[in-house]
Amino acid sequence: MAKRSFAILAVVVILATMVAACKPAPKALKVAILAPLSGDVATFGASTRDGALLAIEEWNAKGGVLGRKIEAVVEDSQCEAEPAASAANKVISQDQVKFIIGEVCSKASIPVSEIATANKVLQISPTSTNPKVTVDEAGNAKPTVFRACFIDPFQGTVAATFALKELNAKTAAVLLDQGNDYVRGLAEFFRDAFEKGGGKVVVWETYTAGDTDFTAILTKVKDANPDVLYLPDYYSTVNVIAAQANQMGIKAVKMGGDGWDSPQLDKAATAGGYFTNHYSSEDTRPVVQEFVKKYQAKYGSVPDALAALAYDAANILFMAIQQAGADDPVKVAQTMEKGTFSVVSGDITFDAQHNPKKCAVILEVSPDKVSYKSTVCP
Ligand code: PHE
Repeated sequence: MAKRSFAILAVVVILATMVAACKPAPKALKVAILAPLSGDVATFGASTRDGALLAIEEWNAKGGVLGRKIEAVVEDSQCEAEPAASAANKVISQDQVKFIIGEVCSKASIPVSEIATANKVLQISPTSTNPKVTVDEAGNAKPTVFRACFIDPFQGTVAATFALKELNAKTAAVLLDQGNDYVRGLAEFFRDAFEKGGGKVVVWETYTAGDTDFTAILTKVKDANPDVLYLPDYYSTVNVIAAQANQMGIKAVKMGGDGWDSPQLDKAATAGGYFTNHYSSEDTRPVVQEFVKKYQAKYGSVPDALAALAYDAANILFMAIQQAGADDPVKVAQTMEKGTFSVVSGDITFDAQHNPKKCAVILEVSPDKVSYKSTVCP
């Protein structure tokens, strides 16, 4: 009898163990990465994806978030409004994603933010700097939309102040693509700050995305002979304008914003110029150097600002989900509003408009390298 019950007990124990072993692992937590992986600014997308994936890999190695593995859903949203909106709709409806890291470009992040808001999905853009990304028409913060970078009123002011104080510039020419929220915004914020500081914008000319011949507007720059030529566009367009300006003998110091940050920036054409950016890989703080080392070991290249901020955006998101204790985007957003998040680009807290307070760096371009010049804090 005793033998038999022992046998039954043994069978029960074995069965129970088998059932426990078959119990499905907790469902993976899906996170979308929306970035331009093709087109004119594809280096932005590659860096953003790689930075975010590095963070995901590290969290998964520690057991994931809320005990669940993180699974990335990567979409090529092209830094354009329409493809970004379709990518956002796709990841929300098909993949049932509740968290989006992206987009890179403001022009694409603005429509994504509307979709995220309507679906109560949490969006954190690593690098979209236009104010409208996180704020609606009435000036209120979109409840579940955040960013990991500073905004363009600050970036434009830092550039204008540098031009006035460090370069002793009195006059500037500004060339802009009016159809791009980021470019137009940054151009206006630069102009306002430059004129407020006593400078004069002597040329203000627009062009259209895809233009390849800038001679007509550059002729106006040549005639006005300004101290600074401000080009607040992405590297692909800046490369073309800068080369043509040089050919025409324009001597103004070229300046720009974070859009210049690319291994494909034409350093020969923009040499002697400066741009504002989010981070420098030459920053000696241990947290920066540790990140540079890990990124370089995995990908074989030095991380640019896009990689650093995507890494930060992903880490802020996972810390907030972990602290919220649930994968509910509204709860996670409330946690983000209240918390402090220590990441590569600093200790981040969000203001009422869901923008972090952060310093900017100024980088100097020479024919063979881009080097750190200075840091400006708000
Ligand atoms: N700030 C740019 C935008 O809002 C995107 C960008 C960030 C590009 C950083 C390059 C580097 O559109």
